[in-house]
Amino acid sequence: MAQKVELSVDVSKTGAKIDRNIFGQFAEHLGHGIYEGIWVGPDSTIPNTRGIRNDVVAALKAIKVPNVRWPGGCFADEYHWRKGIGPQRIVTLNPNWGGVIEPNTFGTHEFMDFLDQIGAEAYISVNVGSGTPQEAAEWLEYMTTAQPTTLAKERAANGHPQPFKVVSLGIGNESWDCGGNMTPDYYLSQMKIYSRFVRSYNPAQQDKDQMLKIAVGPGGGEPRWTEWTEAVMKAYQQHTWSWDINGLSMHSYTVGHWPPSFVSTGFGESEYSQILKFTLDMEDLVSKHSAIMDKYDPQKKVALIVDEWGAWYAPSPWTNPGFLVQQNSQRDAILAALNLNIFARHADRVRGANIAQMVNVLQAMVMTDKEKMVLTPTYYVFKMYVPFQDSTFVPVAFDAGTYTHGDISLPRVDAIAAKDKAGKLWLAITNLDPNRPVEIEASLTGITAKSAAGEILTAPKVDSVNTFDAPNTVVPKPVSAKALNGKLVLKLEPKSVTVMSVEQ
Ligand code: AHR
Repeated sequence: MAQKVELSVDVSKTGAKIDRNIFGQFAEHLGHGIYEGIWVGPDSTIPNTRGIRNDVVAALKAIKVPNVRWPGGCFADEYHWRKGIGPQRIVTLNPNWGGVIEPNTFGTHEFMDFLDQIGAEAYISVNVGSGTPQEAAEWLEYMTTAQPTTLAKERAANGHPQPFKVVSLGIGNESWDCGGNMTPDYYLSQMKIYSRFVRSYNPAQQDKDQMLKIAVGPGGGEPRWTEWTEAVMKAYQQHTWSWDINGLSMHSYTVGHWPPSFVSTGFGESEYSQILKFTLDMEDLVSKHSAIMDKYDPQKKVALIVDEWGAWYAPSPWTNPGFLVQQNSQRDAILAALNLNIFARHADRVRGANIAQMVNVLQAMVMTDKEKMVLTPTYYVFKMYVPFQDSTFVPVAFDAGTYTHGDISLPRVDAIAAKDKAGKLWLAITNLDPNRPVEIEASLTGITAKSAAGEILTAPKVDSVNTFDAPNTVVPKPVSAKALNGKLVLKLEPKSVTVMSVEQ
Protein backbone atom coordinates (compact mmCIF):
# COMPACT_ATOMS: atom_id res chain seq x y z
CA MET A 1 0.00 0.00 0.00
CA ALA A 2 1.24 3.48 -0.83
CA GLN A 3 2.27 5.63 2.11
CA LYS A 4 1.36 9.31 2.10
CA VAL A 5 3.91 12.10 2.57
CA GLU A 6 2.91 15.76 2.62
CA LEU A 7 5.37 18.36 1.39
CA SER A 8 4.93 22.06 1.91
CA VAL A 9 6.90 24.52 -0.15
CA ASP A 10 6.79 28.26 0.47
CA VAL A 11 8.10 29.75 -2.73
CA SER A 12 8.55 33.20 -1.16
CA LYS A 13 11.16 31.87 1.29
CA THR A 14 14.24 31.44 -0.86
CA GLY A 15 17.69 30.45 0.41
CA ALA A 16 21.20 30.36 -1.02
CA LYS A 17 22.18 29.80 -4.64
CA ILE A 18 22.80 26.13 -5.41
CA ASP A 19 26.19 26.53 -7.05
CA ARG A 20 26.36 24.61 -10.30
CA ASN A 21 29.82 23.49 -9.20
CA ILE A 22 28.30 20.96 -6.80
CA PHE A 23 27.68 18.94 -9.98
CA GLY A 24 31.43 18.84 -10.72
CA GLN A 25 33.30 15.76 -11.90
CA PHE A 26 36.65 14.18 -11.08
CA ALA A 27 38.93 12.58 -13.67
CA GLU A 28 42.12 10.98 -12.39
CA HIS A 29 44.84 9.13 -14.24
CA LEU A 30 43.55 5.87 -12.80
CA GLY A 31 42.66 2.68 -14.65
CA HIS A 32 40.57 3.58 -17.69
CA GLY A 33 39.38 6.92 -16.31
CA ILE A 34 41.47 8.81 -18.85
CA TYR A 35 43.10 6.33 -21.22
CA GLU A 36 40.42 4.47 -23.22
CA GLY A 37 37.65 6.28 -21.29
CA ILE A 38 38.37 9.78 -22.64
CA TRP A 39 41.57 9.54 -24.63
CA VAL A 40 41.90 7.05 -27.47
CA GLY A 41 44.39 9.03 -29.56
CA PRO A 42 43.83 10.62 -32.98
CA ASP A 43 44.66 7.40 -34.86
CA SER A 44 42.02 5.31 -33.10
CA THR A 45 39.20 3.70 -35.06
CA ILE A 46 36.89 4.88 -32.27
CA PRO A 47 35.35 8.16 -33.49
CA ASN A 48 37.28 10.97 -31.86
CA THR A 49 38.16 14.64 -32.12
CA ARG A 50 41.91 15.20 -31.72
CA GLY A 51 42.12 11.93 -29.78
CA ILE A 52 39.14 12.51 -27.46
CA ARG A 53 36.17 10.13 -27.81
CA ASN A 54 33.12 11.74 -29.42
CA ASP A 55 30.59 9.50 -27.67
CA VAL A 56 31.89 10.35 -24.20
CA VAL A 57 32.03 14.07 -25.05
CA ALA A 58 28.42 14.06 -26.29
CA ALA A 59 27.22 12.26 -23.15
CA LEU A 60 29.03 14.63 -20.81
CA LYS A 61 27.90 17.74 -22.69
CA ALA A 62 24.32 16.73 -22.03
CA ILE A 63 24.81 16.81 -18.25
CA LYS A 64 26.42 20.28 -18.38
CA VAL A 65 29.52 19.38 -16.37
CA PRO A 66 30.56 22.65 -14.68
CA ASN A 67 34.15 21.69 -13.82
CA VAL A 68 36.49 18.73 -13.90
CA ARG A 69 39.10 18.10 -11.21
CA TRP A 70 42.33 16.73 -12.73
CA PRO A 71 44.88 15.01 -12.76
CA GLY A 72 44.13 13.42 -9.35
CA GLY A 73 43.63 12.33 -6.61
CA CYS A 74 46.71 10.60 -5.29
CA PHE A 75 48.09 10.73 -8.85
CA ALA A 76 48.31 14.54 -8.66
CA ASP A 77 51.00 14.40 -5.98
CA GLU A 78 53.21 12.39 -8.33
CA TYR A 79 52.37 14.29 -11.50
CA HIS A 80 55.05 16.32 -13.24
CA TRP A 81 53.37 18.45 -15.87
CA ARG A 82 56.38 18.85 -18.17
CA LYS A 83 56.26 15.14 -18.99
CA GLY A 84 52.82 15.69 -20.53
CA ILE A 85 53.46 18.56 -22.97
CA GLY A 86 55.12 18.89 -26.34
CA PRO A 87 55.76 16.42 -29.15
CA GLN A 88 57.97 14.11 -27.08
CA ARG A 89 56.08 12.74 -24.07
CA ILE A 90 57.97 11.10 -21.22
CA VAL A 91 56.73 7.62 -20.37
CA THR A 92 56.53 7.05 -16.62
CA LEU A 93 54.68 4.82 -14.15
CA ASN A 94 51.51 5.18 -12.13
CA PRO A 95 52.55 3.66 -8.79
CA ASN A 96 49.30 4.54 -7.01
CA TRP A 97 47.03 2.74 -9.39
CA GLY A 98 48.26 -0.64 -10.48
CA GLY A 99 51.86 0.39 -11.23
CA VAL A 100 50.98 0.59 -14.92
CA ILE A 101 52.68 2.64 -17.63
CA GLU A 102 51.69 6.33 -17.74
CA PRO A 103 52.29 7.41 -21.33
CA ASN A 104 51.61 11.09 -20.58
CA THR A 105 49.89 11.38 -23.98
CA PHE A 106 46.98 13.04 -22.19
CA GLY A 107 48.51 16.17 -20.67
CA THR A 108 47.66 19.81 -20.13
CA HIS A 109 46.65 20.62 -23.73
CA GLU A 110 44.58 17.47 -24.15
CA PHE A 111 42.80 18.12 -20.83
CA MET A 112 41.98 21.70 -21.81
CA ASP A 113 40.79 20.55 -25.24
CA PHE A 114 38.55 17.96 -23.56
CA LEU A 115 37.10 20.68 -21.29
CA ASP A 116 36.41 22.89 -24.31
CA GLN A 117 34.66 20.02 -26.03
CA ILE A 118 32.36 19.27 -23.08
CA GLY A 119 31.94 22.93 -22.04
CA ALA A 120 33.47 22.62 -18.56
CA GLU A 121 36.04 24.58 -16.55
CA ALA A 122 39.40 23.47 -15.13
CA TYR A 123 39.98 22.52 -11.51
CA ILE A 124 43.70 21.68 -11.40
CA SER A 125 45.25 19.86 -8.45
CA VAL A 126 48.93 20.73 -8.13
CA ASN A 127 51.66 18.48 -6.82
CA VAL A 128 52.54 19.37 -3.23
CA GLY A 129 53.66 15.88 -2.17
CA SER A 130 56.58 15.24 -4.53
CA GLY A 131 56.73 18.50 -6.49
CA THR A 132 57.92 21.97 -5.61
CA PRO A 133 56.26 25.38 -5.45
CA GLN A 134 58.48 26.37 -8.39
CA GLU A 135 57.21 23.49 -10.54
CA ALA A 136 53.59 24.38 -9.75
CA ALA A 137 54.16 28.11 -10.26
CA GLU A 138 55.73 27.46 -13.66
CA TRP A 139 52.86 25.19 -14.68
CA LEU A 140 50.41 27.97 -13.87
CA GLU A 141 52.51 30.50 -15.73
CA TYR A 142 52.68 28.12 -18.70
CA MET A 143 48.93 27.71 -18.71
CA THR A 144 47.71 31.19 -17.88
CA THR A 145 49.96 34.05 -18.88
CA ALA A 146 49.09 36.21 -21.87
CA GLN A 147 52.48 37.93 -21.79
CA PRO A 148 55.27 36.74 -24.11
CA THR A 149 57.30 34.85 -21.49
CA THR A 150 59.43 31.89 -22.48
CA LEU A 151 56.79 29.55 -21.02
CA ALA A 152 53.96 31.31 -22.87
CA LYS A 153 55.92 30.96 -26.11
CA GLU A 154 56.40 27.28 -25.40
CA ARG A 155 52.64 26.95 -24.88
CA ALA A 156 52.04 28.72 -28.19
CA ALA A 157 54.56 26.46 -29.91
CA ASN A 158 52.61 23.52 -28.51
CA GLY A 159 49.48 24.80 -30.20
CA HIS A 160 47.77 27.23 -27.80
CA PRO A 161 48.76 30.89 -28.06
CA GLN A 162 45.80 32.04 -25.96
CA PRO A 163 46.10 31.59 -22.19
CA PHE A 164 44.08 28.83 -20.58
CA LYS A 165 41.80 29.57 -17.64
CA VAL A 166 42.23 27.65 -14.40
CA VAL A 167 39.13 28.33 -12.35
CA SER A 168 40.16 26.39 -9.23
CA LEU A 169 43.51 25.31 -7.89
CA GLY A 170 43.73 22.39 -5.46
CA ILE A 171 46.80 22.81 -3.22
CA GLY A 172 47.63 19.15 -2.67
CA ASN A 173 45.41 16.11 -2.29
CA GLU A 174 44.80 14.20 0.94
CA SER A 175 48.08 15.57 2.27
CA TRP A 176 47.32 13.75 5.54
CA ASP A 177 47.64 10.42 3.68
CA CYS A 178 48.62 9.60 0.08
CA GLY A 179 49.69 13.20 -0.47
CA GLY A 180 52.63 12.95 1.92
CA ASN A 181 51.27 11.97 5.34
CA MET A 182 51.74 15.49 6.66
CA THR A 183 50.73 16.92 10.01
CA PRO A 184 48.37 19.92 9.85
CA ASP A 185 51.25 22.26 10.76
CA TYR A 186 53.56 20.87 8.11
CA TYR A 187 50.80 21.08 5.50
CA LEU A 188 49.99 24.66 6.47
CA SER A 189 53.61 25.71 6.03
CA GLN A 190 53.57 24.21 2.51
CA MET A 191 50.09 25.44 1.61
CA LYS A 192 50.94 29.06 2.45
CA ILE A 193 53.93 28.95 0.09
CA TYR A 194 51.84 27.51 -2.76
CA SER A 195 49.04 29.97 -2.09
CA ARG A 196 51.53 32.84 -2.32
CA PHE A 197 53.48 31.83 -5.40
CA VAL A 198 51.20 29.71 -7.60
CA ARG A 199 49.22 32.33 -9.49
CA SER A 200 46.88 32.57 -12.41
CA TYR A 201 48.10 35.28 -14.76
CA ASN A 202 45.10 35.00 -17.05
CA PRO A 203 43.95 38.61 -17.68
CA ALA A 204 40.34 37.51 -17.22
CA GLN A 205 41.10 36.39 -13.67
CA GLN A 206 42.68 39.48 -12.21
CA ASP A 207 39.69 41.26 -10.69
CA LYS A 208 36.50 39.60 -9.50
CA ASP A 209 36.81 36.33 -11.34
CA GLN A 210 39.94 35.20 -9.45
CA MET A 211 41.26 31.66 -9.47
CA LEU A 212 39.93 29.90 -6.35
CA LYS A 213 42.56 28.30 -4.11
CA ILE A 214 41.36 25.15 -2.39
CA ALA A 215 43.25 23.84 0.65
CA VAL A 216 43.28 20.19 1.65
CA GLY A 217 40.58 19.54 4.23
CA PRO A 218 39.17 16.58 6.12
CA GLY A 219 38.61 12.99 5.05
CA GLY A 220 36.02 12.08 7.67
CA GLY A 221 34.56 12.98 11.02
CA GLU A 222 37.13 11.49 13.41
CA PRO A 223 39.21 13.71 15.73
CA ARG A 224 42.24 13.80 13.43
CA TRP A 225 40.07 15.43 10.76
CA THR A 226 38.20 17.84 12.99
CA GLU A 227 41.65 18.88 14.24
CA TRP A 228 42.76 19.33 10.62
CA THR A 229 39.78 21.56 9.79
CA GLU A 230 40.36 23.54 13.01
CA ALA A 231 44.03 24.05 12.14
CA VAL A 232 43.44 25.19 8.55
CA MET A 233 40.51 27.45 9.42
CA LYS A 234 42.30 28.97 12.41
CA ALA A 235 45.26 29.77 10.16
CA TYR A 236 42.85 31.23 7.61
CA GLN A 237 41.31 33.49 10.26
CA GLN A 238 44.76 34.88 11.00
CA HIS A 239 45.95 35.02 7.41
CA THR A 240 47.90 38.01 6.20
CA TRP A 241 47.86 39.76 2.80
CA SER A 242 50.46 37.37 1.42
CA TRP A 243 48.33 34.23 1.25
CA ASP A 244 44.69 33.26 1.07
CA ILE A 245 42.33 30.36 0.43
CA ASN A 246 38.82 30.34 -0.99
CA GLY A 247 37.90 26.75 -0.31
CA LEU A 248 38.50 23.80 1.98
CA SER A 249 38.27 20.40 0.35
CA MET A 250 36.51 17.43 1.95
CA HIS A 251 36.64 13.79 0.84
CA SER A 252 34.04 11.27 1.91
CA TYR A 253 33.24 7.99 0.20
CA THR A 254 30.26 5.74 0.88
CA VAL A 255 32.27 2.61 1.52
CA GLY A 256 30.97 1.00 4.70
CA HIS A 257 34.34 -0.25 5.85
CA TRP A 258 37.88 -0.22 4.43
CA PRO A 259 38.92 -2.12 2.39
CA PRO A 260 35.77 -1.78 0.27
CA SER A 261 33.80 -5.02 0.42
CA PHE A 262 30.23 -4.23 -0.63
CA VAL A 263 29.60 -5.64 -4.09
CA SER A 264 28.32 -3.33 -6.82
CA THR A 265 25.83 -5.76 -8.35
CA GLY A 266 24.06 -8.96 -7.36
CA PHE A 267 23.03 -7.64 -3.93
CA GLY A 268 19.70 -7.41 -2.13
CA GLU A 269 17.69 -5.12 0.09
CA SER A 270 19.98 -5.61 3.06
CA GLU A 271 23.02 -4.16 1.23
CA TYR A 272 20.78 -1.51 -0.36
CA SER A 273 19.58 -0.22 3.00
CA GLN A 274 23.04 -0.46 4.62
CA ILE A 275 24.72 1.56 1.89
CA LEU A 276 22.01 4.24 1.96
CA LYS A 277 22.41 4.50 5.72
CA PHE A 278 26.16 4.98 5.29
CA THR A 279 25.68 7.60 2.60
CA LEU A 280 23.37 9.68 4.77
CA ASP A 281 26.34 10.21 7.13
CA MET A 282 27.33 12.93 4.65
CA GLU A 283 24.80 15.20 6.37
CA ASP A 284 26.55 14.94 9.76
CA LEU A 285 29.95 15.31 8.20
CA VAL A 286 29.05 18.46 6.27
CA SER A 287 27.32 19.91 9.35
CA LYS A 288 30.25 19.09 11.62
CA HIS A 289 32.92 20.66 9.42
CA SER A 290 30.66 23.60 8.46
CA ALA A 291 30.22 24.35 12.17
CA ILE A 292 34.00 24.49 12.63
CA MET A 293 34.30 26.73 9.57
CA ASP A 294 31.56 29.01 10.95
CA LYS A 295 33.67 29.60 14.07
CA TYR A 296 36.59 31.00 12.07
CA ASP A 297 34.74 32.28 9.01
CA PRO A 298 31.23 33.36 9.98
CA GLN A 299 30.86 35.24 6.70
CA LYS A 300 31.29 31.97 4.84
CA LYS A 301 33.99 33.30 2.54
CA VAL A 302 35.70 29.90 2.41
CA ALA A 303 33.62 27.31 0.57
CA LEU A 304 33.46 23.67 1.58
CA ILE A 305 34.32 21.76 -1.59
CA VAL A 306 33.41 18.06 -1.37
CA ASP A 307 35.78 17.23 -4.18
CA GLU A 308 35.71 13.46 -3.79
CA TRP A 309 32.46 11.69 -2.95
CA GLY A 310 30.47 8.70 -4.13
CA ALA A 311 30.20 4.95 -3.66
CA TRP A 312 33.37 2.87 -3.38
CA TYR A 313 32.67 -0.85 -3.66
CA ALA A 314 34.76 -4.00 -4.05
CA PRO A 315 36.39 -4.09 -7.49
CA SER A 316 34.38 -5.97 -10.11
CA PRO A 317 35.62 -9.55 -10.62
CA TRP A 318 38.21 -10.08 -13.35
CA THR A 319 39.28 -6.43 -13.32
CA ASN A 320 42.61 -5.01 -12.15
CA PRO A 321 41.90 -4.12 -8.49
CA GLY A 322 44.09 -1.04 -8.91
CA PHE A 323 41.69 0.28 -11.55
CA LEU A 324 38.72 0.67 -9.16
CA VAL A 325 36.16 -0.70 -11.62
CA GLN A 326 32.66 -1.20 -10.22
CA GLN A 327 29.13 -1.48 -11.60
CA ASN A 328 26.60 1.29 -11.11
CA SER A 329 23.06 0.39 -10.12
CA GLN A 330 19.75 1.97 -9.16
CA ARG A 331 21.12 2.03 -5.60
CA ASP A 332 23.78 4.45 -6.84
CA ALA A 333 21.17 6.66 -8.47
CA ILE A 334 19.36 6.97 -5.13
CA LEU A 335 22.70 7.53 -3.35
CA ALA A 336 23.64 10.31 -5.79
CA ALA A 337 20.31 12.09 -5.33
CA LEU A 338 20.57 11.92 -1.53
CA ASN A 339 24.06 13.45 -1.57
CA LEU A 340 23.15 16.17 -4.05
CA ASN A 341 20.19 17.04 -1.80
CA ILE A 342 22.51 17.32 1.21
CA PHE A 343 24.85 19.63 -0.72
CA ALA A 344 21.87 21.74 -1.87
CA ARG A 345 20.60 22.09 1.70
CA HIS A 346 24.06 23.38 2.68
CA ALA A 347 24.35 25.60 -0.39
CA ASP A 348 25.53 28.56 1.67
CA ARG A 349 28.75 26.68 2.55
CA VAL A 350 29.01 23.80 0.06
CA ARG A 351 29.78 25.58 -3.20
CA GLY A 352 31.51 22.76 -5.01
CA ALA A 353 31.61 18.96 -5.15
CA ASN A 354 33.19 16.43 -7.50
CA ILE A 355 31.81 12.93 -7.75
CA ALA A 356 34.46 10.20 -8.04
CA GLN A 357 34.94 9.55 -10.82
CA MET A 358 33.60 10.62 -14.19
CA VAL A 359 34.47 7.71 -16.51
CA ASN A 360 35.06 3.99 -15.78
CA VAL A 361 36.23 4.51 -12.18
CA LEU A 362 34.18 4.15 -8.96
CA GLN A 363 30.71 5.79 -9.25
CA ALA A 364 31.07 6.72 -12.90
CA MET A 365 28.76 8.64 -15.22
CA VAL A 366 29.72 6.55 -18.23
CA MET A 367 31.48 3.26 -18.77
CA THR A 368 33.33 2.26 -21.90
CA ASP A 369 34.66 -0.93 -23.41
CA LYS A 370 36.63 -0.37 -26.61
CA GLU A 371 34.12 1.26 -29.02
CA LYS A 372 31.13 0.73 -26.72
CA MET A 373 29.80 3.18 -24.13
CA VAL A 374 26.96 2.91 -21.64
CA LEU A 375 25.29 5.59 -19.47
CA THR A 376 24.89 4.67 -15.81
CA PRO A 377 21.91 5.28 -13.49
CA THR A 378 24.04 7.95 -11.75
CA TYR A 379 24.45 9.70 -15.11
CA TYR A 380 20.69 10.03 -15.41
CA VAL A 381 20.40 11.60 -11.95
CA PHE A 382 22.97 14.23 -12.93
CA LYS A 383 21.04 14.84 -16.13
CA MET A 384 17.71 15.16 -14.35
CA TYR A 385 19.25 17.59 -11.81
CA VAL A 386 20.61 20.00 -14.48
CA PRO A 387 17.83 22.56 -13.74
CA PHE A 388 19.18 22.84 -10.18
CA GLN A 389 22.49 24.25 -11.46
CA ASP A 390 22.75 27.84 -10.18
CA SER A 391 19.11 27.76 -9.06
CA THR A 392 17.93 29.29 -5.78
CA PHE A 393 17.18 26.96 -2.91
CA VAL A 394 13.58 26.88 -1.65
CA PRO A 395 13.01 25.09 1.67
CA VAL A 396 10.64 22.11 1.72
CA ALA A 397 9.01 21.01 4.97
CA PHE A 398 7.92 17.39 5.28
CA ASP A 399 7.62 14.48 7.62
CA ALA A 400 9.68 11.92 5.70
CA GLY A 401 8.16 8.86 7.36
CA THR A 402 10.31 5.78 7.87
CA TYR A 403 11.42 2.90 5.71
CA THR A 404 12.68 0.00 7.79
CA HIS A 405 14.61 -3.09 6.78
CA GLY A 406 15.83 -5.34 9.61
CA ASP A 407 17.49 -3.08 12.13
CA ILE A 408 18.00 -0.26 9.64
CA SER A 409 15.59 2.66 9.57
CA LEU A 410 15.84 5.36 6.95
CA PRO A 411 13.69 8.30 5.90
CA ARG A 412 11.13 7.04 3.41
CA VAL A 413 11.35 10.18 1.33
CA ASP A 414 13.80 12.98 0.65
CA ALA A 415 13.03 16.18 -1.25
CA ILE A 416 14.47 19.52 -2.29
CA ALA A 417 13.04 22.45 -4.22
CA ALA A 418 14.57 25.37 -6.08
CA LYS A 419 13.69 28.21 -8.40
CA ASP A 420 15.62 28.48 -11.65
CA LYS A 421 16.74 31.78 -13.19
CA ALA A 422 13.45 32.09 -15.09
CA GLY A 423 11.52 31.76 -11.82
CA LYS A 424 10.28 28.22 -12.51
CA LEU A 425 9.91 25.98 -9.46
CA TRP A 426 11.61 22.57 -9.54
CA LEU A 427 11.09 19.66 -7.15
CA ALA A 428 13.35 16.63 -6.71
CA ILE A 429 11.82 13.81 -4.70
CA THR A 430 13.42 10.49 -3.83
CA ASN A 431 11.44 7.49 -2.61
CA LEU A 432 14.00 5.35 -0.76
CA ASP A 433 11.57 2.52 -0.05
CA PRO A 434 12.36 -0.27 -2.51
CA ASN A 435 9.00 -2.00 -2.02
CA ARG A 436 6.27 0.56 -1.62
CA PRO A 437 5.18 3.53 -3.70
CA VAL A 438 4.66 6.81 -1.93
CA GLU A 439 1.79 9.21 -2.44
CA ILE A 440 3.02 12.80 -2.45
CA GLU A 441 0.74 15.69 -1.64
CA ALA A 442 2.61 18.96 -2.17
CA SER A 443 1.12 22.27 -1.05
CA LEU A 444 2.77 25.26 -2.60
CA THR A 445 2.49 28.68 -0.99
CA GLY A 446 3.21 31.71 -3.14
CA ILE A 447 2.16 30.21 -6.47
CA THR A 448 -0.97 28.57 -7.83
CA ALA A 449 0.14 25.29 -9.30
CA LYS A 450 -1.86 23.78 -12.15
CA SER A 451 0.30 20.76 -12.84
CA ALA A 452 3.83 19.44 -12.79
CA ALA A 453 5.83 17.41 -15.28
CA GLY A 454 9.24 15.84 -15.39
CA GLU A 455 10.99 12.50 -15.23
CA ILE A 456 11.20 9.56 -12.87
CA LEU A 457 14.12 7.14 -12.65
CA THR A 458 13.40 3.73 -11.23
CA ALA A 459 14.35 0.14 -12.04
CA PRO A 460 13.07 -3.41 -11.68
CA LYS A 461 15.45 -4.17 -8.80
CA VAL A 462 17.68 -2.28 -6.37
CA ASP A 463 20.73 -3.75 -8.13
CA SER A 464 19.50 -3.19 -11.70
CA VAL A 465 22.26 -1.87 -13.94
CA ASN A 466 22.75 -0.78 -17.52
CA THR A 467 25.15 -2.91 -19.52
CA PHE A 468 26.64 -2.64 -22.99
CA ASP A 469 24.16 -5.31 -24.13
CA ALA A 470 21.16 -3.96 -22.21
CA PRO A 471 21.78 -0.21 -21.92
CA ASN A 472 18.17 0.82 -21.22
CA THR A 473 17.27 -1.10 -18.06
CA VAL A 474 17.55 2.02 -15.93
CA VAL A 475 16.47 5.08 -17.87
CA PRO A 476 14.17 7.96 -16.90
CA LYS A 477 10.59 8.05 -18.10
CA PRO A 478 8.09 10.93 -18.20
CA VAL A 479 5.94 11.63 -15.15
CA SER A 480 3.28 14.24 -14.49
CA ALA A 481 0.99 15.42 -11.71
CA LYS A 482 -2.24 17.39 -11.52
CA ALA A 483 -3.23 19.94 -8.92
CA LEU A 484 -6.22 18.89 -6.78
CA ASN A 485 -7.66 21.46 -4.38
CA GLY A 486 -4.50 23.53 -4.78
CA LYS A 487 -2.17 20.62 -4.02
CA LEU A 488 0.00 18.62 -6.40
CA VAL A 489 -0.77 14.96 -6.02
CA LEU A 490 1.35 12.17 -7.43
CA LYS A 491 2.35 8.62 -6.74
CA LEU A 492 6.07 7.82 -6.87
CA GLU A 493 7.28 4.33 -7.61
CA PRO A 494 9.47 2.45 -5.14
CA LYS A 495 13.26 3.17 -5.20
CA SER A 496 12.85 6.14 -7.47
CA VAL A 497 14.22 9.62 -8.12
CA THR A 498 11.81 12.17 -9.62
CA VAL A 499 12.55 15.67 -10.87
CA MET A 500 9.71 17.87 -12.06
CA SER A 501 8.90 21.50 -12.78
CA VAL A 502 5.68 23.15 -11.71
CA GLU A 503 3.32 24.84 -14.17
CA GLN A 504 1.35 27.79 -12.81
O1 AHR B 1 39.34 8.43 -6.10
C1 AHR B 1 40.31 7.51 -5.79
C2 AHR B 1 41.28 8.01 -4.72
O2 AHR B 1 40.59 8.19 -3.51
C3 AHR B 1 41.93 9.34 -4.95
O3 AHR B 1 43.04 9.25 -5.77
C4 AHR B 1 42.33 9.77 -3.57
O4 AHR B 1 42.38 11.16 -3.42
C5 AHR B 1 41.28 9.12 -2.68
O5 AHR B 1 41.84 8.46 -1.62
